[in-house]
Amino acid sequence: MSDVIAGLPSDFFWGVATSAYQIEGAYDEDGRTLSIWDTFSRRPGAVENGETGDVACDHYHRMPSDVAMIARLGVDKYRFSVSWPRIQPCGRGPVNPKGIDFYSRLVDELLDKGVDPWLTLYHWDLPQELEDAGGWPHRDTAYRFAEFAGLVHDALGDRVPTWTTLNEPWCSAMLGYDVGRHAPGRTNFAEAMRATHHLLLAHGLAAQELRTRGVTSLGITLNMGTHSPASDDPRDVDAARRADGLGTRIYLDPLVHGRYPEDVLADIAARGAAIPVHPGDMEIISTPLDVFGVNYYTSHVHKATGDPAVSEVVPQGRPVTAMGWEIVPEGFTSLLVRLHQDYGVPMVITENGAAFDDLDVVDGHVADTDRVEYLKSHIEAVAAAVQAGADVRGYLAWSLMDNFEWGYGYGKRFGIVRVDYETQERTLKQSARWFRDLITRSRA
Ligand code: FCB
Repeated sequence: MSDVIAGLPSDFFWGVATSAYQIEGAYDEDGRTLSIWDTFSRRPGAVENGETGDVACDHYHRMPSDVAMIARLGVDKYRFSVSWPRIQPCGRGPVNPKGIDFYSRLVDELLDKGVDPWLTLYHWDLPQELEDAGGWPHRDTAYRFAEFAGLVHDALGDRVPTWTTLNEPWCSAMLGYDVGRHAPGRTNFAEAMRATHHLLLAHGLAAQELRTRGVTSLGITLNMGTHSPASDDPRDVDAARRADGLGTRIYLDPLVHGRYPEDVLADIAARGAAIPVHPGDMEIISTPLDVFGVNYYTSHVHKATGDPAVSEVVPQGRPVTAMGWEIVPEGFTSLLVRLHQDYGVPMVITENGAAFDDLDVVDGHVADTDRVEYLKSHIEAVAAAVQAGADVRGYLAWSLMDNFEWGYGYGKRFGIVRVDYETQERTLKQSARWFRDLITRSRA
């Protein structure tokens, strides 16, 4: 056990993470309007078994007992997201008092139990009306988001210390508008590039809004991994460069250096698309941040195909999780060291974890040894990166509990707490107990 945490700074912090649509349910209660995920999940074939987040983990009704459970894990922080259509129905106009009240009570419960609230403003649930008005490819959506950020801060800014603007804009832009596997399910690369820029602009405008209000712990969360070539063949090397360009550098270069990478702009232009930059945008996007959230699950090895827009991901014969994602902890170390070298930013692991096949509860126990092994090897990988000089301040496990895993529905379970969707009973898995013990020992 001690080897897992050896090498981490003594003030390293621990937490668990969730997001609104994945756990809350109560999709049409107390004035909440629909988000793009409510609409998308009703599209035939979009989500496995036609599942939706209508009920999810029923967290909206079980929040106090869920917070008590979080506190019993001994974590320092709880990362959650707020539902835009719950707080500002239709994405415009005044705040819905009942919607904001839910989060106000959540924040109070957390503080009361000694857990720091870590708030993400956007984890993919755009109000449907804003999608109908053009969605993220439409520039105005960025301004709507900044207004929303201000409204949430008006209500919660006195009690929430840490603010993340967006979760994984790559997923919003690419899976939502290019690949069509996430809401809103469009398939147009040019729109995805417009969405990418407007998400970054939305982030920057919201960051400015929060900064002027005195927020001192401000960030964005990106999903990242390493992208290596399958061979020395220049075409494979180029495939890896492109994947890293569209996956990582297209976000971090603007955020940190205030410019898009030239090679990525050229790749985009070659595909007949463009990034719609207006004068002043890059200054807004590069508003200084305090912390970068890193979500890590796996790493990829790329082989070129005939189509420069598409690379083949080559399996390396490693064990995989239930998502089919290869388990690559040393990729986590390399990624963090590289981010430190190229961008020099303080980092927090805002998500890391794994889905494994569902296990029954036997005598109150769920023996998820695979997950314990996954978490252990990845926390060790973080410690190795810290030893190599990377500035990593904390680790938040994904996820507190099993939940609605987007296009996979409820079939993929990432929780360290098991949820029985028939009864909504929560059971701490072995991984939750292991994590709790790890936190206790790290403080000793
Ligand atoms: C991330 C998402 C999170 C969850 C995990 C497994 O991309 O941010 O909501 O789905 O993957």
